[in-house]
Amino acid sequence: MTKINKVPNHIAIIMDGNGRWATRRGLPRNYGHKEGINAVERTIKLCIKYGIKYCTFFAFSTENWKRSKEEIDGIFDLIRNYISKDENIFERYKIKLSSIGMLEPFPRDLQNALTDMKEKTKNYNGLEVIFALNYGGRDDIVRAVNSLIQKGYNNITEHDILTALDTGNLPEPDFVIRTSGEMRISNFLLYQMAYSELYFPKVLWPDFNERHFVKALKTYQKRNRRFGGIT
Ligand code: IPE
Ligand code: IPE
Ligand code: MG
Repeated sequence: MTKINKVPNHIAIIMDGNGRWATRRGLPRNYGHKEGINAVERTIKLCIKYGIKYCTFFAFSTENWKRSKEEIDGIFDLIRNYISKDENIFERYKIKLSSIGMLEPFPRDLQNALTDMKEKTKNYNGLEVIFALNYGGRDDIVRAVNSLIQKGYNNITEHDILTALDTGNLPEPDFVIRTSGEMRISNFLLYQMAYSELYFPKVLWPDFNERHFVKALKTYQKRNRRFGGIT
């Protein structure tokens, strides 16, 4: 068995395949999202177990508003219930919760639940879990540039943009995992992913478990990150 000795500092996950997981079982799509939340909980525990410092979960994209109201409301309910339940993983394991993306269009109760849990966990310094909600990589860049313009910048550097993005105080993702076998980025962390290692396992997100996680980490540790140099 390969020892895991070089883990990514920041893993970013495009959790894809919930709908297919449900449809294959003859169930409504929201059952897949419900099972998807269990996979989030499992993965958070695995991040603690394997010493990952940051994990970003792509939970709702700026394009996901195209889905039915029923599906969207179902996703919002699941997220709200997950982050606000009494026995929640964040307080229990001292995990800092944060988010990226524009929260304004979300229902008030979901926004309040997020604000509340972020506030309760803001001083924890072990694992940080970041939910990408109403997040789009292009939207992030546009908002970052506009915020710099508003501050009076007229000569913008790469570093200025990096720090003005929603991920401004986070390290860039080392490893991006997209489940379900689709090989695309779907407007996730476009600017931040410039040198991320990408990995596309076929497993549908609700089925993602420790075996898949360990396989992903082993794949990562075999990658030779050159950043344009020669090693
Ligand atoms: C990912 O699963 C979850 C979200 C986008 C919220 P999907 O719902 O996209 O599942 P598939 O791709 O239809 O199987
Ligand atoms: C990406 O998955 C968004 C999230 C996982 C939240 P999608 O299922 O929305 O992406 P496409 O439509 O297949 O590109
Ligand atoms: Mg999908």
